[in-house]
Amino acid sequence: MTEEGKKFRAAITATAHFLPDKVITNADLERLVDTSDGWIRSRTGISERRFLPEDEPTSTMAIAVAQELLARREIDPDDIDLIIVATITPDMIFPATACLVQHAIGASGVWAYDLSAACSGFVFAVATGAQFIESGAHRRVMVIGADKMSSILDFEDRTTCVLFGDGAGGVLLERGEDEAGLIDFELYADGAAVECLHIKGGGSLYPPSHETVDQRMHYIRQEGRTVFRFAVEKMAEVSASLLERNGLTGADLKLFVPHQANKRIIDAAAQRMDLPPEKVMMNIDRYANTTAATIPIALAEAADQGRLERGDLVLMTGVGGGLTWGSTLFRWGD
Ligand code: UT7
Repeated sequence: MTEEGKKFRAAITATAHFLPDKVITNADLERLVDTSDGWIRSRTGISERRFLPEDEPTSTMAIAVAQELLARREIDPDDIDLIIVATITPDMIFPATACLVQHAIGASGVWAYDLSAACSGFVFAVATGAQFIESGAHRRVMVIGADKMSSILDFEDRTTCVLFGDGAGGVLLERGEDEAGLIDFELYADGAAVECLHIKGGGSLYPPSHETVDQRMHYIRQEGRTVFRFAVEKMAEVSASLLERNGLTGADLKLFVPHQANKRIIDAAAQRMDLPPEKVMMNIDRYANTTAATIPIALAEAADQGRLERGDLVLMTGVGGGLTWGSTLFRWGD
């Protein structure tokens, strides 16, 4: 929607994040697969990640984030109009994990749905949620990114199991009172390269069977090099493009909050935008790739650290399965 077409601005009025207590270090993974702390650190920037207990689902983390958002904003669950959860690890195939969040926080008169765009999930969801605010349809939308990646990792596949972690983060979107809010977004999808990042089994194409389980088809598979090249290109391209079309450069940004898949991908994008390290949010060393949760966790940490002030420009960029990629540009509020 053009600036002129917007009735209202969709401002981020609260952030929250949740990380499980259990820390899994690279040394812990050395005991499971043929890998090394040195390889993981040098190729990805990851030192450790968090895993949720096996018997707890993704909704545990999403609910914690939802409750924290309500507490921080000091509002009632009934004040929410819509809950969107971006995830590729829903508790169940259906119903949506967002419905479980709605019930757990006791929000009535609200609607809720999941959005599946893998590592781009949060930027897709936040841009989607903002449309309901900008059009005037809703006053408050909760947008959460949550993934329990440990539930879909094959600990016999060293090329992927070392890359991911569990976590959740989210924001509250509300009608902005002033200039604060979503300025612009660019989002893309290209399904031509499905094979390079996916879970093949368990859906309607290959419903669960002894055979799909024997073939370990319910685990995430990734062609690392192909996705790496794609991510380096697209993260830099879409970030630079969104800035350019708004007449901005990296110098105008306060903070770049990229998807945390690989430190080398983030460094390449930051270099292309000429961003010094202090303008780039990086926490992949501690949490690894939490898929839809990396960006809202990083944003919430930045906000908690006091790195964002009224009027600051924040660019969030995701790249992931689909393939999907995209960027959102916000002006920070109070
Ligand atoms: O969030 C969704 C989007 N995902 C991404 O953005 C991830 C993109 N891809 C990547 O980040 C990188 O491609 C990886 C981190 C997955 C891999 O790094 P790489 O530098 O592309 O390594 P590679 O796949 O080219 O593998 C290099 C070597 C191989 O050995 P050979 O064939 O050279 O002998 C692998 O077998 O490293 C080996 N290797 C490992 N060694 C120790 C692969 N995984 C491991 C491991 N530990 N865990």
